[in-house]
Amino acid sequence: MFKRVSALLCCLLLGMAAFGQDRDTVAGIPVNYDELKVGDYKAGLPDPLVFNNGKPVKNARQWAKRRAEILRIFEENQYGKWPARKPALRYDVARDEGFGGEAVRKQITLYFSPDNDGPRVDVLVYLPKDAVGAVPILLNLSFSPNNMTISDPGVKPGRRWDPKTRTMMESPSMPGFAGFGMDATVKKYLKEGFGFATLCYTDITPDFQDDDELGLRGLYHTPGTPRASDDWGSISAWAFGVSCLMDYFEKDPDVDAKRVALTGCSRLGKTTIWTGAVEPRIKVVMPSCSGEGGAAISRRVYGETVAHLTEPTRFPYQFCPKYAYWGDKLTQMPMDAHMLVALIAPRPLLLQTGSTDIWSDPLGEWLALIEGRKVYQLLGKDVPAGDEFPAADQPIYTTLGYVMHEGGHGIQPQDWDYYLEFMKRHL
Ligand code: GCU
Repeated sequence: MFKRVSALLCCLLLGMAAFGQDRDTVAGIPVNYDELKVGDYKAGLPDPLVFNNGKPVKNARQWAKRRAEILRIFEENQYGKWPARKPALRYDVARDEGFGGEAVRKQITLYFSPDNDGPRVDVLVYLPKDAVGAVPILLNLSFSPNNMTISDPGVKPGRRWDPKTRTMMESPSMPGFAGFGMDATVKKYLKEGFGFATLCYTDITPDFQDDDELGLRGLYHTPGTPRASDDWGSISAWAFGVSCLMDYFEKDPDVDAKRVALTGCSRLGKTTIWTGAVEPRIKVVMPSCSGEGGAAISRRVYGETVAHLTEPTRFPYQFCPKYAYWGDKLTQMPMDAHMLVALIAPRPLLLQTGSTDIWSDPLGEWLALIEGRKVYQLLGKDVPAGDEFPAADQPIYTTLGYVMHEGGHGIQPQDWDYYLEFMKRHL
């Protein structure tokens, strides 16, 4: 029975994510999978090492200024701006044993307001049992509540939004539910001396249209005000929630907040790379299948495009309102995904894709790496040497790294091993 539920959930998530593959149109907009029709992605492609005023960036000091320009471009044109001030954060922390005594388990509730019923996120953290002092951790942004991600008795039941009532409901625990095989993965990380943390992204703020008055975004929303062109979308709000969690991690004696790696898949891959861009305390950034609106070059008309993402019935609310404007003006956009890659430099970045995940355009992510790597080089970091698109399951672990699993959309079991290896080398 639980196997069936698990399979069903997998299908739902993957089906949702792979939506659009092998279809001629999505939301009435044609989808192209023909390399001969992708257009010239270099047309109008901004140079990350040239200032807005046309002057070249020659050194690390100048790059810091150019970086600030690029960050602003993404805030104004793609993801939207964070509020100027953090909310008043409060924490509840419970520390006990997990996995029948095999690990230290912490369950943290991070409240974003003085109201206990207001927006809050439950964070589940596992630490190696024999750890001495603070440990480096992987923070996983999950589609599932913690009690559905990990099967460990005593994990608090999570919550889910009901878009109809626009309220949160408790998500039932399923004893014996094996999550997505995550228990074994977590234990593997612990064995290597890393901690593993997970949270459900919709605890921070929901994931549906007209949701800006709910969750974390709701705390900053004045009813009746129209959205400004650079108003934050939900991806920026999820990133802001992670930044609030970093404030907590800095106070947690068990976590080495200077050595936090982040991953998430799909829209959470987009969230991972944007969080890495805007929150420099994230040390290692590993977006999975982030695709369009993430690490894939948008000027390539292949698979999903900006127009698909921002079509009114799809995901415009995840971005700032201005993003939709660029849907039919790709070559004029002041940004593209290679500049997002550049924003992570000089920190380690591993782009993880899937060979058959054509909706997300794995080649488009590789090209973003190729176009963005000169910033890593300017900062003295190692990058893939050649331009040749790597074969599946041939990981490249340079500071700016890339790995494409054989298969489709999602994080596959071997991807957790790739992340672990990347963390071992770079954290
Ligand atoms: C859709 C969307 C993608 C997104 C994915 C997901 O497939 O088109 O851009 O990454 O959903 O987040 O699951």
